[in-house]
Amino acid sequence: MALKNKKIVVVGGATGIGFAVAGKALDAGAKVLIASRSQESLQAALCRLGPGASADRVDAGDEQSVRDFFRRVGSFDHLAMIIKAALPHDTFLSSDLNAVRAAFETKFWGQYRLARHAAEWLRPDGSMVFTSGVASRRATPGMSVVSAMNAATEALARVLAVELAPIRVNTVSPGLVDARPLDPAQPERLQKLVQYVPLARLGGAAEIAEAYLYLFGNAYTTGSVMVVDGGVAC
Ligand SMILES: NC(=O)c1ccc[n+]([C@@H]2O[C@H](COP(=O)([O-])OP(=O)(O)OC[C@H]3O[C@@H](n4cnc5c(N)ncnc54)[C@H](OP(=O)(O)O)[C@@H]3O)[C@@H](O)[C@H]2O)c1
Repeated sequence: MALKNKKIVVVGGATGIGFAVAGKALDAGAKVLIASRSQESLQAALCRLGPGASADRVDAGDEQSVRDFFRRVGSFDHLAMIIKAALPHDTFLSSDLNAVRAAFETKFWGQYRLARHAAEWLRPDGSMVFTSGVASRRATPGMSVVSAMNAATEALARVLAVELAPIRVNTVSPGLVDARPLDPAQPERLQKLVQYVPLARLGGAAEIAEAYLYLFGNAYTTGSVMVVDGGVAC
């Protein structure tokens, strides 16, 4: 199997989509290191993932933390960057510039820093996978910042696929995701958004995670954006 005994780092691997990626990579026989800022959530995730997983702390918002983290990791095979910012949903004219900058600082610049320092340590036949989001290709009121941030991420990854080759660089663009099955207990906002999904439901974290596994393992895919969104971007 393509991922057996490979060393895979999942930043943002303690929760949500990242946690699902870590679980699937372990199932595929990889050695998985999950990383994020909170020691508590890393420990809780490690207990659920079981043997084969390890954890370390990193703050993608802090250059020194990122540099030191990859020095500790040493050489490795694949990186998934799955960090989430607090997303501003205000319209363009009513948006708070500080909130806009903070979102970019975490999601765009966080992934930028991770990619930059990981590149030194990734094996030449390895890969890195960025995370964007389906807002990059839809014009939805209140989503200007999210759209711009995700589009910038995809553009960065495309150029890195050329500059860093033979290391492969790809992006996963998730649609609306919730780990829970669709039920009345879900927040109203998510319920409303389901009407825009041709497949008429939210995606599961495990369904998005499959895209990362494919991109780690397929040696002839680089510079691509894999959209997993139930058809939202149609
Ligand atoms: N869920 C959706 O519907 C959806 C839709 C489209 C796109 N996406 C994208 O998919 C990605 C994952 O989403 P999710 O819902 O799975 O997120 P999530 O469950 O909130 O997980 C985000 C992870 O990011 C980590 N993180 C945040 N800031 C960090 C930092 N500065 N340094 C290191 N780690 C950091 C958090 O851990 P700590 O707090 O421990 O640091 C957390 O484990 C995000 O990029 C999101 O924009 C999600």
